[in-house]
Amino acid sequence: MAAVKMTEGSVQVEGCKAPLFYRQSGPASGDAKLSVLLLHGIRFSSENWLNIGTLETLAKAGCRAVAIDLPGLGQSKSAQAPAAVGELAPAGFLKEVCEQLSLTPVVVVSPSLSGMYSLPFLMQHPSLIRGYVPVAPICTEKFTAEQYQSVKVPALIVYGDQDAQLGEVSLRNLSSLSNHKVVVMKGAGHPCYLDDPDTWHKALTDFLSSL
Ligand SMILES: *[C@@H]1O[C@H](CO)[C@@H](O)[C@H](O)[C@H]1NC(C)=O
Repeated sequence: MAAVKMTEGSVQVEGCKAPLFYRQSGPASGDAKLSVLLLHGIRFSSENWLNIGTLETLAKAGCRAVAIDLPGLGQSKSAQAPAAVGELAPAGFLKEVCEQLSLTPVVVVSPSLSGMYSLPFLMQHPSLIRGYVPVAPICTEKFTAEQYQSVKVPALIVYGDQDAQLGEVSLRNLSSLSNHKVVVMKGAGHPCYLDDPDTWHKALTDFLSSL
């Protein structure tokens, strides 16, 4: 297995007052094939991606991965969110994060709450996005089928079969994306990738190698 390096850092985004914390992984030597931004849900943080081994798996697959703590959460508690929970954040927010960290064109992994950040970014800056991996994100109902159809970015829709209403609504909405695949995972009560990291990592790395 290829050696990986892991680091931590922080990035200052305009209007956020305090910096955002992130964890980063990548191949120990040589250039990364792809850059991946890992977002998280409301009860989670970048630590989950460390604990279930996603940061390490992506680095071993030759990618650079950055997991940020969203404003107001995890170790970014003092940072001010650009929008209230459930409202769309300005598309420029993730654009700035990705540009400051030199991640573009970036693959965005976006579970639940983080939909309020990733969907506006996807809709307004598709040229900066190499791939989109939504995992039952919120706010999908705020866009029309026509808006989804206009997005050509390859998408992997990850859907937990026990994800209750949110997973189903967002699956129905996101199915209008013009270039998408769906992965159905077993998952009960909380996000499916936590229940079954091996299946999650296989689906994610397969998708990345198809890009
Ligand atoms: C999104 O899902 C909601 C709830 O099922 C539905 O009312 C709405 O029409 C859907 N929007 C799109 C664009 O599919």
